[in-house]
This record gives sequence, structure tokens and C-alpha cells, in this order.
Amino acid sequence: MNEILKVIKERSSTRGYTAEKLTEAELGALIDAGLQAPTAANRQEIHFSVVDGENPILEEIQQEMLAGRGGGAAAPAHNFYYEAPVVIILSGNAAFSWSAVDAGIAVENIALAAESLGLGNVILGCIKDAMVGAKKEHFAKALGFPEGYEYEVAIAVGRKATTKEPHEYDAAKNVTRV
Ligand SMILES: Cc1cc2nc3c(=O)[nH]c(=O)nc-3n(C[C@H](O)[C@H](O)[C@H](O)COP(=O)(O)O)c2cc1C
Repeated sequence: MNEILKVIKERSSTRGYTAEKLTEAELGALIDAGLQAPTAANRQEIHFSVVDGENPILEEIQQEMLAGRGGGAAAPAHNFYYEAPVVIILSGNAAFSWSAVDAGIAVENIALAAESLGLGNVILGCIKDAMVGAKKEHFAKALGFPEGYEYEVAIAVGRKATTKEPHEYDAAKNVTRV
């Protein structure tokens, strides 16, 4: 099996990280992987906000997410990014209909690049309501989204403190050959 197929096969979501930061070389490789992703009409419109895991904006997003769930519930065991040392938040042009697809492709490029470097990662969609709710403009400004951009998806990356097998799948259910 070639290296790319091996990385695709072995990638899984990591939900526990050590506190160790990524090196600049690792971070650079992840950002490049995002920028190298194909985009519709080669618009290259996806924006990447690289956020240190200790940046208080992440705690603000966490609180907004919990408030949207009605608050009150017992505090979750982990925050939305599993205390990873870095979170990359992808935003796209709200007026461009392919931005969600482009962001999805870019975030998977980052996930596979991380896996290839031996880094854990998990794609994050759970903050969407918080990101597009009442504090949308505040979060967009704090995260440096370009004008007219909105949250698409995010990914946490770090060194694995936990491991998980890749998910199982059923080709008979999901695939039709015609
Ligand atoms: C668009 C998208 C959003 C996701 N959002 C979250 C999330 O908010 N929190 C989380 O823990 N995992 C999230 N995941 C990870 C999925 O739960 C995970 O990919 C799935 O369970 C399959 O497991 P695997 O990635 O280990 O193969 C998300 C994945 C995708 C593709």
C-alpha cells in the first residue's frame, strides 16, 4: 500500500492530547496542506485562523457553545478541542456557494498531513451554532476572518495522549456500482 493510502487508512480522531506545542515546522506543514487543497474555480478563498490552545477566545467559544445548549448541565470532561495545543479554524466567503465544500477538503488535507507527521487531530463541527450565533461578528473579528466570511469548520491538532482505532465501515451499505 502506498504512503497516502496508508495514512488515509490509519487516520482516526484523537480526543486526548499532551500539552506539548507543535513545532513551527509542523505547523507550517499543516497550513501548507490546507493551502494546497483544491478549491472550486481555484478561488483559494478559505481562510485559516491558527489559534493557540491557550488563547482565551477558545474559552469564550466554549462558553457560548455551552450556553447554546442551555447551560446547567454538568461540565463536560473536555473542552470542545480536547485541550489540544492548537486549533485551526477555517472560514469561507459566505457569498460563495462552494466554500463549505472547499473548507471540508482543506480540513481533511490538514487531518491527513497531521496523521502523516504522527500528530493526533480531530475535525470540529460542534461549535458551529456558537460561531454563527449572536457573537458571530465578535468571533469573526477576534479570529481575523476576512470581511464577509463565516465559520466553516475547525480542526484540533497535537500529540496523541489517547489512541483510537479508525472507524469501521460497510461498503455494501454505502456503495452502489452501476
Ligand atoms: C464535519 C465533521 C465534524 C465533526 N465534529 C466533531 C466534533 O465537533 N467533535 C468531535 O469530537 N468529533 C467531531 N468529528 C469527528 C467525527 O466524530 C469522526 O470523524 C467520526 O466519528 C469517525 O471517527 P474517526 O475520525 O476516528 O474515523 C467531526 C467530523 C467531521 C467530518
